[in-house]
Amino acid sequence: MSQHIWPFTGTRIQTLFGIEYPIIQAGMVWVSGAKLAAAVSNAGGLGLIGAGSMKPDLLADHIRTAQSLTDKPFGVNIPLLRGDAEELVQVVLDHKVPVVFTSAGSPKRFTPTFHDHGVKVVHVVPSVTLAKKVEAAGCDAVVAEGFEAGGHNGVDMITTMALIPQVADAVQIPVLAAGGIADGRQIAAAIMLGADGVQIGTRFAATVESSAHDNYKQAVVNASDRDTVFHLKQIGPARMFRNTWTERIAAAEQRGASVEELRELLGTKRERLGIFEGDLDEGQVEAGQGSGLIRDIPHASELLHRLVDETHAAIRHGKVSS
Ligand SMILES: Cc1cc2nc3c(=O)[nH]c(=O)nc-3n(C[C@H](O)[C@H](O)[C@H](O)COP(=O)(O)O)c2cc1C
Repeated sequence: MSQHIWPFTGTRIQTLFGIEYPIIQAGMVWVSGAKLAAAVSNAGGLGLIGAGSMKPDLLADHIRTAQSLTDKPFGVNIPLLRGDAEELVQVVLDHKVPVVFTSAGSPKRFTPTFHDHGVKVVHVVPSVTLAKKVEAAGCDAVVAEGFEAGGHNGVDMITTMALIPQVADAVQIPVLAAGGIADGRQIAAAIMLGADGVQIGTRFAATVESSAHDNYKQAVVNASDRDTVFHLKQIGPARMFRNTWTERIAAAEQRGASVEELRELLGTKRERLGIFEGDLDEGQVEAGQGSGLIRDIPHASELLHRLVDETHAAIRHGKVSS
């Protein structure tokens, strides 16, 4: 038994996935490979491999590596807008991954196939309307993601604080809160708002095992509450660090640029440039508003246990002691 005590009685998420703590390390392009996912799962959470930046062969490699690094359950995140989503799904089925988090597409598309193979399915949404669709599609749980979140995001711009209780009231399936969560006070608050657990992105992106470039990790550590911006509402809304490139996007959006012009300004491989290659001026450096709370680059296991301890302290003492 771990000395890090989860302060709530067994939640549905722990039972659903067979994990010790209902803390999910989000699937993130260019960030969450086998190393990060396995480290989080070994520490008692659920790590997700982010398939969004992987070709099917590379995903298969990462799954096999994760299987060699941990006996605990881990999952894969598949953004369904990928043209080769079907191939990625097949890789997951072939390798008997027990859990899949889908996003950016219809939850109806692959859920029956996953269930036929005994795979648990969770879908990510930014609104109550879509959360109800996830439940109707038969998914096992839903991630409700507020627009504080790093990366791609909903156009309705609903905050985590407002979204979580509304989704919790609207569906019967377990709810994972996401968006802006970087410490245990916020995890405790999310549970109080009706969540069964949390999905955390940016905080895990600034860990030793994350594949993000050191420049990215350092940018998260140096960030203030005001450093992220939300752009590209017309072609792919996303939260990222303000930089030279986002200033060009902001100017274009302000003058009412067409979709074509915005697509041209976006170009290709911006996420790779910003997150993996560490170009903080010209890349799409996706990160959430919680960055202002992040001040170090710990090992993922140390972080997970710290989050559990902080959650415990927040519940026992009403706050995290500083
Ligand atoms: C660098 C980065 C990459 C991301 N890539 C993906 C992705 O490939 N698929 C996805 O569903 N969400 C992606 N997200 C969103 C996360 O899965 C998660 O929901 C979000 O980070 C939660 O908000 P937080 O960053 O404030 O913790 C990404 C987020 C970040 C910061």
